[in-house]
Amino acid sequence: MTILDRPVTARAHTNIALVKYWGKADEQLMLPTNDSISMTLDHFYSTTTVHFDPTLTIDELTLDGLTLPATGQQRIRHFMDFIRQTAGITTFAHIETANHVPTTAGLASSASGFAALAGAAAKAAGLPTDGQTLSRLARRGSGSASRSIFGGFVQWHAGHDDLTSFAEPLQETVTWPLRMIAIVVSKTAKKVGSTNGMKQSQASPYFADWVKQANADIAPMTAALLKKDINRVGEIAEHNAMCMHATTLSATPPFTYFNGDTLTAMSAITDLRQEGVNCYYTMDAGPNVKVICEQADVPTILARLRPLFGDEQLVVAKPGPGLIYL
Ligand code: PMV
Repeated sequence: MTILDRPVTARAHTNIALVKYWGKADEQLMLPTNDSISMTLDHFYSTTTVHFDPTLTIDELTLDGLTLPATGQQRIRHFMDFIRQTAGITTFAHIETANHVPTTAGLASSASGFAALAGAAAKAAGLPTDGQTLSRLARRGSGSASRSIFGGFVQWHAGHDDLTSFAEPLQETVTWPLRMIAIVVSKTAKKVGSTNGMKQSQASPYFADWVKQANADIAPMTAALLKKDINRVGEIAEHNAMCMHATTLSATPPFTYFNGDTLTAMSAITDLRQEGVNCYYTMDAGPNVKVICEQADVPTILARLRPLFGDEQLVVAKPGPGLIYL
């Protein structure tokens, strides 16, 4: 491979799963136990610049202009070693990342971060940059990053080996005014990270049923998204998220991502729905709640949530674009 003698910059947006990835079939290859479907969000993105430099003796990493904490460094170095191995090169690189995921948004930046890094590093290393290749590369950094290569609604095919496990757009340009309202109940770092959370959950007696349910949710979720059926999308997504979280309560050792505010947010959404507003919740590996709804209902939902949470805790996101080179 020929290394580019110039910096390469890529931008990728974060995503929220409507059918969750929760469980690894192969930790080394980062193969998931089930297919998943997500929506890429606008507003929240990572921009990463990679420049291979033969004078370096180690990768140089900065995040928002500052040196990265040791744990983050290790993950990125490991990922860059994988890129070097794939490209057949040994050169280290300058890697600068800027996260435009507001700290208040409570949205994970690992999906956008590893997607942007995969895009920039692959091009800088002279590797192919088609969507499928980038998705497979991003997967090795963080599973959910495989989906952030694409915009709109995206499906990650679990596959059975490195070549067959990649994401693909279901609909890249979304005209449906679907929204996700992030309710930020906590800004503190998660107690159980997704890697350990998945590992512990895979010991749950219900884990096999979770995998079965998640795979069964794929076809109806795809159909509902393409039909713009907010109630089916919401029902499937909410049920899917609760099935995922059931594996944490029954894990060894058991744990939960819910806190008191999580339950307050969920019951506010359930109450609103009983009053006839089309809104549903989903949750990931942390206590924050995301509300799935249409633009027309956003003002009503925000009016209900405002007495419970501050304005800065409520962030409205729209469908966003896939990876671009700047
Ligand atoms: O890609 P990771 O390791 O950050 O795991 C993501 C897991 C969930 O966010 C809980 C679900 C998902 O599909 O994004």
